[in-house]
Amino acid sequence: MDEFAAPCLVIGAKGMLGRDLCSAMRLAKIRLVEMDIDEIDISSMPSVLGAFRKAKPRMVINLAAVTDVDGCEFKQDLAFSVNALGAENLAIASREFGSFLIHMSTDYVFDGSSDKPYRENDLPNPLGVYGKTKFEGEIRIQEALPMNHLIVRTQWLYGEHGKNFVDTIIKAGRQNKKLRIVNDQHGAPTYTVDLAEAIIELGGLRLSGIVHCTNSENTTWSGFASRILGMVGLTDVEIEEINTEELGRPAPRPLNSVLDTSKFERLTGMKLRCWENALQEYLSKRNF
Ligand SMILES: NC(=O)c1ccc[n+]([C@@H]2O[C@H](COP(=O)([O-])OP(=O)(O)OC[C@H]3O[C@@H](n4cnc5c(N)ncnc54)[C@H](OP(=O)(O)O)[C@@H]3O)[C@@H](O)[C@H]2O)c1
Repeated sequence: MDEFAAPCLVIGAKGMLGRDLCSAMRLAKIRLVEMDIDEIDISSMPSVLGAFRKAKPRMVINLAAVTDVDGCEFKQDLAFSVNALGAENLAIASREFGSFLIHMSTDYVFDGSSDKPYRENDLPNPLGVYGKTKFEGEIRIQEALPMNHLIVRTQWLYGEHGKNFVDTIIKAGRQNKKLRIVNDQHGAPTYTVDLAEAIIELGGLRLSGIVHCTNSENTTWSGFASRILGMVGLTDVEIEEINTEELGRPAPRPLNSVLDTSKFERLTGMKLRCWENALQEYLSKRNF
């Protein structure tokens, strides 16, 4: 944890993951400076340099991104300027200030055609604008800051401080007797509180490269919805399983984007708990 002795700059601190990460870091007594869009615009180099001058960070954790997957299809310029150029700006500033950069990325860099969980060195082939711009961000970080970065890919996040699938399903289940949910996308629902602990652990190691990190085990969106409804007692709500094509969302999505987390487990000696146990804790904390 020595790496956190100097201030750690968390960018995207007011987002869903950011709020839980900053709480966990404060609890661990890690010195941190929290910034979000009101204090830094990562797509602007002068803004990034101003923030670095102010914080003088030894480590930077970037959670800021344009995360609205369907919205990115219609706001390609914004998605590119934040997810790709923003990531590059942070890498350049980190190089100038001698900071280590931890950057969050996504399973959407993969096309989902594999029949096995994706490993870190599998070839990305993003399908939509969100995935393409996030992948471009990864490449630009690797080029600008080859030795001092860690890219953490994760997926299917939910947490108390953001709009998420769990809350959406509960709300919909209270209002409807039947829900149509996709059954052909596979992934690991990941609780932001668990991911925050993992990021702190990884930060302490200061290892460069890419690492995949999610809760253990995997499911489909319909499997996830079914457990959510069961755990909150909405057992009379029927799930009609549909496929991705039938749902007809603007952005294409990978079908099997389960991430292999064995590298994370080997590096840290940690294994994030099974998604169902994490979900149970989230629901009881929220009093659902
Ligand atoms: N959510 C998921 O399921 C998921 C899955 C895989 C990977 N990830 C990655 O994990 C990270 C955190 O995700 P999240 O769901 O916690 O995101 P989030 O809730 O959308 O938080 C992102 C934060 O970044 C801010 N932001 C947007 N543009 C910015 C800019 N130009 N400069 C500075 N800040 C800016 C946002 O402000 P506004 O809200 O005002 O825009 C928001 O507070 C992201 O990098 C995302 O790509 C997320």
